[in-house]
Amino acid sequence: MRPFSKILISILHLSSFALASSTPKPFSLTFSNLNGDGNIQNSAILAGSTNTTAQPVFASSSGTIANHGGQIHWHSINPQVVQVTVDSTSAFTGAQFTVASSDLFFGVWEYPWSDQITNNGIKYQLLGLGTKTGVNWSNARAPFFITSSGYGVYADTDKMGSFDFTVPGQAQFMFNTSSLTYYIIKPQSKGDYKSIIQEYTAISSRIEMPPDSSYGPTFWSDDFEEDFHGSVKNAQENYYDVVNHLYFNQIRATSFFADRPYGTGNTSWGNFDFDPKYYPTPKEFIANLSAFGFDFQVWAANRAFLNTELYNASVANNWFFPGYNGEAFLGPALNLSIPAAYNYFLEKMSYFTSIGVKGYKIDRGEESEMPFYVQNIEQPLIEQLLYDNMKSTWGVSNFYNFARSAFDRSRSRTGIWNGDSHADFTGLAYSVASGIRAGIIAFSQWGVDCGGYIRTSGEPLEEVWARWMHFSAWSPVYEIRVGTGATPWYDPYTSRLVSILNETAAMHNALMPYIKSHTWEAAQTGVPVIRALFLEYPADEKVYATTDAYAFGSAFFVAPIVNAGGTRQVYFPNGGQFLEYFNKTDVYVGGSSTNVSLELEYVPVYVREGAIVPTGDILQGNAKWVNNWQPWLEIEVFPSWNVPSSTFEYFDGERTKNKGVPIEMTTNRRDSSVTVTYGALGVPATLSVYGKDGIKKVTLNAKGGRITIHSFDSVFNAN
Ligand SMILES: *[C@@H]1O[C@H](CO)[C@@H](O)[C@H](O)[C@H]1NC(C)=O
Ligand SMILES: *[C@@H]1O[C@H](CO)[C@@H](O)[C@H](O)[C@H]1NC(C)=O
Ligand SMILES: *[C@@H]1O[C@H](CO)[C@@H](O)[C@H](O)[C@H]1NC(C)=O
Ligand SMILES: *[C@@H]1O[C@H](CO)[C@@H](O)[C@H](O)[C@H]1NC(C)=O
Ligand SMILES: *[C@@H]1O[C@H](CO)[C@@H](O)[C@H](O)[C@H]1NC(C)=O
Ligand SMILES: *[C@@H]1O[C@H](CO)[C@@H](O)[C@H](O)[C@H]1NC(C)=O
Ligand SMILES: *[C@@H]1O[C@H](CO)[C@@H](O)[C@H](O)[C@H]1NC(C)=O
Ligand SMILES: *[C@@H]1O[C@H](CO)[C@@H](O)[C@H](O)[C@H]1NC(C)=O
Ligand SMILES: *[C@@H]1O[C@H](CO)[C@@H](O)[C@H](O)[C@H]1NC(C)=O
Ligand SMILES: *[C@@H]1O[C@H](CO)[C@@H](O)[C@H](O)[C@H]1NC(C)=O
Repeated sequence: MRPFSKILISILHLSSFALASSTPKPFSLTFSNLNGDGNIQNSAILAGSTNTTAQPVFASSSGTIANHGGQIHWHSINPQVVQVTVDSTSAFTGAQFTVASSDLFFGVWEYPWSDQITNNGIKYQLLGLGTKTGVNWSNARAPFFITSSGYGVYADTDKMGSFDFTVPGQAQFMFNTSSLTYYIIKPQSKGDYKSIIQEYTAISSRIEMPPDSSYGPTFWSDDFEEDFHGSVKNAQENYYDVVNHLYFNQIRATSFFADRPYGTGNTSWGNFDFDPKYYPTPKEFIANLSAFGFDFQVWAANRAFLNTELYNASVANNWFFPGYNGEAFLGPALNLSIPAAYNYFLEKMSYFTSIGVKGYKIDRGEESEMPFYVQNIEQPLIEQLLYDNMKSTWGVSNFYNFARSAFDRSRSRTGIWNGDSHADFTGLAYSVASGIRAGIIAFSQWGVDCGGYIRTSGEPLEEVWARWMHFSAWSPVYEIRVGTGATPWYDPYTSRLVSILNETAAMHNALMPYIKSHTWEAAQTGVPVIRALFLEYPADEKVYATTDAYAFGSAFFVAPIVNAGGTRQVYFPNGGQFLEYFNKTDVYVGGSSTNVSLELEYVPVYVREGAIVPTGDILQGNAKWVNNWQPWLEIEVFPSWNVPSSTFEYFDGERTKNKGVPIEMTTNRRDSSVTVTYGALGVPATLSVYGKDGIKKVTLNAKGGRITIHSFDSVFNAN
């Protein structure tokens, strides 16, 4: 930590409004970045009566705004963060930042404009997006950007606004408010972008730990009430058909969710019930799913469809937004800022928890069901409501809600899925990019409809789906839609796809100890599980704009195949050596490239030299075919003489006393030894040490301990 006094705050340009003859200059603020990493140029503060006419303000050195009225305040709240407050007399306020024209901007939107993780050239409002290339309604968003010049900016407001990155070397934002607070966030040291996310999320919010069942595979269908096979007669039995296929193929899974239709009433939502036509005995059905090892979630949204209970109550009490009625809008939203509306809705949702529902798929929030300018106020309220509903029955971390439209602080209330991805390679490529982007804005608990959702170009081809299964396995959440026309064990798909589903589900399950530890890290620090490469490899400028590869936690480099044909180029980030993870034979050096051609059974995944990777089996889920199932761990380590020491914080909830358990590895080339020190891991564990002569396996002590392997030789070349 740097002493407070080292932060230099100076005003570069003072307005010269007193001198009528010269042109006044915009008020600006200049801050020195830490470690002398250039200056931060807050080149203007903007104000105006509309969102298109806002202009730079002129102000005195004390911050009094001359041309609009009002006041600007700024001070450091800690060595990394400067808070700026603009209180103007104008309806719209904002700010502008200037960097070198080649610098890049990241963040703000989950949606990957033109399949990019950068924002350069983009200007858009901070709201939910509709039909777009690759994925519709990819809607997580936050008023936070990072620039490659080494800092971040967070505008802390839920008012509608826009970001504009169309002028090279310039970022500008503008909000529908006369009073705006924003934060300029410096890294802890040069290039430490993760520390920028850490400070941002300390001010806004971080995710909460989800239950283990959230990681999936989660199976769902739009249409469990149709597409009956064999003796299936209703939706309930249709789930059992999936349960049975998973069981007989020994495919791991953790939960199910029901999209509509499942309830009675118009559009099957708003009467707070299950339709007996589809679900004759919902409570018993959910109890059975639970006994089979699945948690169960249902669809929910702030939408009141005509003539339903929710609709009628809203009309009677005036809870709709003025001008938004059921005739003109198919399912208006309630104004949840009205406490009576919020409380009524909350009370009604208790039906679902009372019969065992353990989470919601939270849909909509950006389909013209409310005035656009309240989206960032109202969507967080439905997410809070559904969180409150679940929490009061199950307690924190024992349920899983996930939404497609989520704003900033809602990351602490809901996970997300990336919207309606298109069921083709474009959809897959855009989904990879949106996962990386969701991470940059700290929505770590993220998944995608595996195989894609929108089927305008038909059901996913087997090739697309197989590649997508690998991507989902290497995502925090593996979530997969089955049903009408597209179920891996029904035509037109082959048994090969079923095997790939099996293999990827097993891989995801094996990675759960690793994913869970990293999810816990995200809950502690904001740093996401899917990481843009620049977060892990800031010294390599070549990877800053990479959209088709990412770091999966600290240990893995994943370069999914997102195109037909199975061949892609892989550029290894400059940051040591990498071992191909499946066959564990090929080593690649950072800064080099290779072309890989892989069958559908594989995905290009590489583990970093020196990595510690806890794998194993910590949640039985549906694996009832395993007799006397017990949790276990395999701690995989990949020692390298180039990495004298490395650590991993292993977390497994109550099994590790709700704390991180350090696992530390040191290597000593002089005496050819590797030492691993570990704490109490909570379950039986083995250590697997990967070296040139293969794998050495050692049983670990339940109370923790230290193990030294002698006569070791690394698979990685010593530098
Ligand atoms: C989503 O995307 C598809 C394909 O681009 C488009 O045809 C469709 O209208 C969109 N649907 C919705 C509901 O946004
Ligand atoms: C201004 O607001 C309108 C909606 O009223 C929106 O369409 C437009 O994109 C906004 N422009 C900017 C620069 O924010
Ligand atoms: C700004 O907010 C007001 C309500 O406070 C709304 O009427 C107006 O349409 C909004 N304008 C824009 C451009 O968002
Ligand atoms: C699925 O995977 C499991 C373990 O990974 C294996 O035991 C089982 O035989 C596989 N099932 C099929 C149908 O390949
Ligand atoms: C629940 O499972 C039991 C035991 O398998 C079965 O007898 C019962 O019919 C099932 N109930 C429902 C609603 O599926
Ligand atoms: C459902 O809502 C639609 C659209 O508002 C309306 O046209 C239709 O009549 C409603 N149906 C019923 C059964 O209420
Ligand atoms: C809502 O009101 C409409 C018209 O008054 C009525 O037909 C409908 O049955 C009501 N819905 C419910 C669930 O009570
Ligand atoms: C929503 O309700 C709140 C509380 O009554 C009110 O202040 C606000 O103006 C309403 N929003 C709109 C857009 O009508
Ligand atoms: C692993 O080895 C097999 C057999 O040689 C090969 O077919 C496959 O492509 C390899 N996988 C990877 C990811 O290199
Ligand atoms: C990979 O393939 C591209 C053409 O697709 C080629 O230009 C490049 O040289 C190849 N790289 C390697 C390392 O073989």
